[in-house]
Amino acid sequence: MSTTSTLITEADIHARIRSLAGEIERDYPPNEGVHLVAVLKGGFMFMADLVRAMSDRVTMDFMAVSSYGKGTSSSGQVRVLKDLDSNVEGRHVILVEDIVDTGLTLHYLQDLLKARAPKTLKTACLLSKPSRRKVEVKVEYIGFTIEDHFVVGYGLDYAEKYRNLPYIAILRQ
Ligand code: IMP
Ligand code: MG
Repeated sequence: MSTTSTLITEADIHARIRSLAGEIERDYPPNEGVHLVAVLKGGFMFMADLVRAMSDRVTMDFMAVSSYGKGTSSSGQVRVLKDLDSNVEGRHVILVEDIVDTGLTLHYLQDLLKARAPKTLKTACLLSKPSRRKVEVKVEYIGFTIEDHFVVGYGLDYAEKYRNLPYIAILRQ
């Protein structure tokens, strides 16, 4: 039996995302498009709220990767299950992820996208667990920095469950 306890409320998430969206809007020249690439499945809810707080210059695409299987620790293996639909060459790309933990997934994805010659590449993560980092990765936009807890909700799962929670919770087993 697993239980959850709220770590970050829905209201706090929404306020932080509105502020991140404002920051992103200010960081790019006003007449240039910004292409957001969400990492499925975890990044779907963050992406949905982020783009709704942005102007109509935003476009989006999705990639699906698998890094964890069903457990709670990183295998270090990243598999691309679904690639992008459109070319990112010459575009301002922002990779949108739920969480940066060891950094292995983002490290892999940043290299993969850089090789496709975007005009700029930045990364946005709702959460960061810096104490768990195994490789250094640059993340320009971070929603919240958290301690080393296994968290679920707002896109994040444990064995595919709890992605639907509108807040972030700590999972206790
Ligand atoms: P990393 O490669 O170790 O940085 O892990 C990245 C991926 O692991 C994330 O995109 C999540 O899918 C998953 N992950 C890492 N920490 C957590 C957590 O606390 N809860 C749920 N998923 C997590
Ligand atoms: Mg993920």
